[in-house]
Amino acid sequence: MLLSTASALLLSATLTTAAKYSEYILAPSSRTLHPVSVYKVNGTVDGAESLTGDEEGSATFQGPSSVTYDFSKNIAGRVTLNIGDVDEDQYIGITFSESSLWISGEGSDGTADAGLDEILWLQPDGEGDVSVSPEHERGGFRYLSLIHNGTGNVEVRRVDVYFTPMPHYEDDQLGAYTGWFHCDDELINRVWYAGAYTNQLCTIDPHFGNSLVHLNEVNSSMLGNSTPPQTWYNNYTITNGSSALVDGAKRDRLVWAGDMAIAVPGVVVSTNDIITVANSLDSLFAVQNKTSGQLPWAGRPFPLIPSATYHMYTLIGVADYYLYSDSLEYLQGKWADWKKALELSISQIDDSGLMNVTVPNDWLRVGMGGHNIEANSILYYTITQGIMLGRAVNESQSLLDTWASKAEGIKSAANTLLWNATTGLYHDNETTTLSPQDGNTWAIIANLSTPSRTPLISAALRARWTPVGAPAPEAGADVISPFISGFELQAHILASDTSSALDLIRLQWGDFMLDDPRMTNSTFIEGYASNGDLHYAPYTNDPRVSHAHGWATGPTSTLTFYIGGIHLLSAGGREWEIHPRPGDLKSIDTGFETSLGGFETQVNATGNGTITGLKFSTPAGTSGTVVVEGAVGGYLRSGNGTRVEIVNGEAQGVSGGTWEYVREGGNGTTGWNGTGTGSAPPEVQTGAGSVVSASLVLAGLMGLVSWLM
Ligand SMILES: *[C@@H]1O[C@H](CO)[C@@H](O)[C@H](O)[C@H]1NC(C)=O
Ligand SMILES: *[C@@H]1O[C@H](CO)[C@@H](O)[C@H](O)[C@H]1NC(C)=O
Ligand SMILES: *[C@@H]1O[C@H](CO)[C@@H](O)[C@H](O)[C@H]1NC(C)=O
Ligand SMILES: *[C@@H]1O[C@H](CO)[C@@H](O)[C@H](O)[C@H]1NC(C)=O
Ligand SMILES: *[C@@H]1O[C@H](CO)[C@@H](O)[C@H](O)[C@H]1NC(C)=O
Ligand SMILES: *[C@@H]1O[C@H](CO)[C@@H](O)[C@H](O)[C@H]1NC(C)=O
Ligand SMILES: *[C@@H]1O[C@H](CO)[C@@H](O)[C@H](O)[C@H]1NC(C)=O
Ligand SMILES: *[C@@H]1O[C@H](CO)[C@@H](O)[C@H](O)[C@H]1NC(C)=O
Ligand SMILES: *[C@@H]1O[C@H](CO)[C@@H](O)[C@H](O)[C@H]1NC(C)=O
Ligand SMILES: *[C@@H]1O[C@H](CO)[C@@H](O)[C@H](O)[C@H]1NC(C)=O
Ligand SMILES: *[C@@H]1O[C@H](CO)[C@@H](O)[C@H](O)[C@H]1NC(C)=O
Ligand SMILES: *[C@@H]1O[C@H](CO)[C@@H](O)[C@H](O)[C@H]1NC(C)=O
Repeated sequence: MLLSTASALLLSATLTTAAKYSEYILAPSSRTLHPVSVYKVNGTVDGAESLTGDEEGSATFQGPSSVTYDFSKNIAGRVTLNIGDVDEDQYIGITFSESSLWISGEGSDGTADAGLDEILWLQPDGEGDVSVSPEHERGGFRYLSLIHNGTGNVEVRRVDVYFTPMPHYEDDQLGAYTGWFHCDDELINRVWYAGAYTNQLCTIDPHFGNSLVHLNEVNSSMLGNSTPPQTWYNNYTITNGSSALVDGAKRDRLVWAGDMAIAVPGVVVSTNDIITVANSLDSLFAVQNKTSGQLPWAGRPFPLIPSATYHMYTLIGVADYYLYSDSLEYLQGKWADWKKALELSISQIDDSGLMNVTVPNDWLRVGMGGHNIEANSILYYTITQGIMLGRAVNESQSLLDTWASKAEGIKSAANTLLWNATTGLYHDNETTTLSPQDGNTWAIIANLSTPSRTPLISAALRARWTPVGAPAPEAGADVISPFISGFELQAHILASDTSSALDLIRLQWGDFMLDDPRMTNSTFIEGYASNGDLHYAPYTNDPRVSHAHGWATGPTSTLTFYIGGIHLLSAGGREWEIHPRPGDLKSIDTGFETSLGGFETQVNATGNGTITGLKFSTPAGTSGTVVVEGAVGGYLRSGNGTRVEIVNGEAQGVSGGTWEYVREGGNGTTGWNGTGTGSAPPEVQTGAGSVVSASLVLAGLMGLVSWLM
């Protein structure tokens, strides 16, 4: 297949270059992992420490005893123990936990609605290796406990974990990132790389998805953490192909399109593992009802139940895939099904001009129904994507015009019916005064909000922050959603408040989600409480919460796209905008690849938003616009001396290549790579952008919307 060939080519291209800033990359350099340290010993385990590191050791369990090992970061895979001397009839049990909170000799942190996951018991019958069965591959754990029950002795010589994420990558290429990010704030650098790694842990062999053996078994006698440990199997084939992007590493290990809206851009700017995105989207279209157009809330084996928003997120997924992959063929192959699905959403618009949502399923917020602001903002956005995609596949103009008028109707009705001028926020629907985080952030991202309202929303959202993050009142009184807060980052920046975005990354992702000792210091959690408890209101079972959830990786793409300022406006980045927003940062270096080539920016700034140095590079044959915050003049100079003037902080009609911003007066900096080409006679490029056709502006606007995801 064409796609797999392309991906193989990309993969082999990465083999030749060592990733930039590789010291921040959390992906292991080999698939065989060993414990890093001993976290705790119960009873007598002689030599527990000797099993840390790569050397063989000898740890002897005497009588009832256990040892908990720490891998120092969240990992995933299959466990093998090498056994030495062993008495008759001995057992070693294995339990896992992502958080230190749920380390236990009773079971692993949960994957079901209730209870812990059962201990895996191995019964070594002599010297040599014993492994857990393949369906007991564990998708996420930082802590591994070995438990010895009963009398007698067992000697363990080695603990191996075979790291299973990113199954389609060569064993020593897990850290071969095509993208990078670095700035003068170390906390923010760690956040970017933890986001990239979180998405890698969520990229699994599709034969080892969650079998959901206890789905819907929860009842009143089974609530909370007290239920006896339960069976668990990761052996359901969830997609075709050799890799799948799932919501979470430990669970659900299922394809959820909403989660992908945040995870996919994060994947693109780090590993550019685009084949995995296609496999996952294909699995959702494979179970679409081709008569009604209905797409599922989640992929198999989840039951086929609808969700208004996840249905649209699947459509957004195709738009994203086309944007990042530049594969018109893929889009054409999906177009009939895509159109059918969008028509289904549009048919849910009533006389008010708004969609009336009649199924409650969303990201596990409550009160999803009626003329909901989040669903309507996402529909507005999806329609604008549809118009852009429709142009690419030569869809009839009359259909696209119909869609455009539906979108205008949504925007006008939402702004009339759902705005609260006192709070500066949209209501969830017209029968409540609750103002949701999801709908207000989406209203900005979708451009459903108006220029005068957008800054009010940004300020009102910021005013609600708690010491551990930005709350989502639509999901309960005390919920922090790293998923919706990822959209909030984008909303603040679109409201021209870069500081709030950087502050929220530091507060929520850095100080809390990375540095709190209950976290893995390497991957991002699914959700928690606004007082900092590791309780996520949609679940009754606290150990169930996933600590590696792709939907929590919003900062990774936000930092590259917005802070580093690399925006792809059309498929593959054929048209782009370079617009760094340094906020309080003083230096930024970021880049990533698409099938057209590499995009990168390097920025120096004062720390108050003013850019003093900018170099960037985009692929040959592409073109775009450059916005230099704080520039009062100056010009861009290409590696060959070509000049483009900066007028009102902006340079238009800039062609692909390597460029440097020369500040007012022309003596700003040396040339690209210090080659000092400034003395060459300047060749002035006539900005193709001075008179742009109306259709190009529209295409640009649509594209602009597309990179917001
Ligand atoms: C170690 O002992 C504590 C206290 O009895 C117990 O709660 C915990 O589950 C034990 N840990 C393991 C890994 O067995
Ligand atoms: C240890 O655990 C295994 C597996 O559950 C069980 O079969 C065995 O009876 C236990 N041994 C003792 C002494 O409790
Ligand atoms: C998963 O593994 C369990 C235990 O071995 C087995 O009973 C079950 O049939 C398997 N399920 C699938 C879908 O293969
Ligand atoms: C698919 O949609 C059609 C039309 O709405 C409906 O009649 C049919 O029952 C649906 N099929 C399934 C499997 O849900
Ligand atoms: C309107 O929003 C409120 C708050 O989220 C919710 O409780 C209510 O159920 C929603 N109405 C409908 C029809 O869903
Ligand atoms: C949405 O549709 C449902 C089902 O037809 C209806 O009961 C409800 O009143 C509608 N809501 C609005 C806000 O029109
Ligand atoms: C605006 O929101 C406030 C606070 O929730 C509420 O008291 C007020 O009634 C709302 N205004 C309107 C017009 O709904
Ligand atoms: C967290 O991880 C970073 C590397 O990403 C490391 O430098 C730091 O020491 C770790 N913090 C703790 C508390 O382990
Ligand atoms: C930003 O800092 C620069 C140099 O430190 C200074 O010249 C400029 O006035 C500042 N701009 C603002 C908006 O504070
Ligand atoms: C940023 O400043 C450093 C130190 O002065 C310099 O080496 C580098 O070339 C500058 N980068 C840009 C993009 O101006
Ligand atoms: C100089 O570089 C610019 C930007 O890459 C390119 O458009 C132009 O054709 C180049 N000019 C020459 C003479 O190579
Ligand atoms: C720029 O450099 C030239 C040559 O070194 C010098 O003559 C000129 O005064 C400088 N201009 C400014 C604004 O510094």
